[in-house]
Amino acid sequence: MDKKYYVALICAVLVCLIVPLLKLFDGEHLKLKEEFTQTRYNFQKVYGAIQPIPTIIEINKEWVSLGKAVFHSPLLSKDNTVSCASCHLIDYGGDDGFPVSTGIKNRKGSRNSPTVLNAVFNFKQFWDGRANTLEEQMLGPIHNPIEMGTT
Ligand code: HEC
Repeated sequence: MDKKYYVALICAVLVCLIVPLLKLFDGEHLKLKEEFTQTRYNFQKVYGAIQPIPTIIEINKEWVSLGKAVFHSPLLSKDNTVSCASCHLIDYGGDDGFPVSTGIKNRKGSRNSPTVLNAVFNFKQFWDGRANTLEEQMLGPIHNPIEMGTT
């Protein structure tokens, strides 16, 4: 084959590799992350351990809708029967009102579900404070074999 065909072939392969790579690094995912973390809370600091909740909150409405849908979706659980909202009833104070919560296959947990209302402002998550942030906490129930039992 002519040398110029080889050159053309190599160029074509490079373009095929570079275009998807550029797409990956075009910052679209960074933009999303930035948008997500752009949520602003206006805290009024007071002396002491417990701080009042913010007076002004700026949150992207689309993220709120997405969060609401995911929170209410049983698809997050292994057998598609349990959502976050099964144990945290937003209209009833953010908990389920039972001594212990019930997860997939009617499995009983060992703890009472706390409210999730304003949980984002907690400086620790769970009764024993084993998670530092909401992001860290969230994987707990999804992976817990008694609660949602999925990966
Ligand atoms: C089967 C019931 C059940 C399901 C489903 C469940 N939770 Fe929970 N949740 C609990 C219980 C029980 C605790 C307390 C566990 C502990 O302290 O060890 C808890 C704790 C929490 C906390 C900590 C609140 C605080 O004040 O410390 C948050 C936030 C939370 N859950 C959010 C979620 C989210 C988000 C989902 C869905 C991804 C979810 N939960 C699914 C029962 C459940």
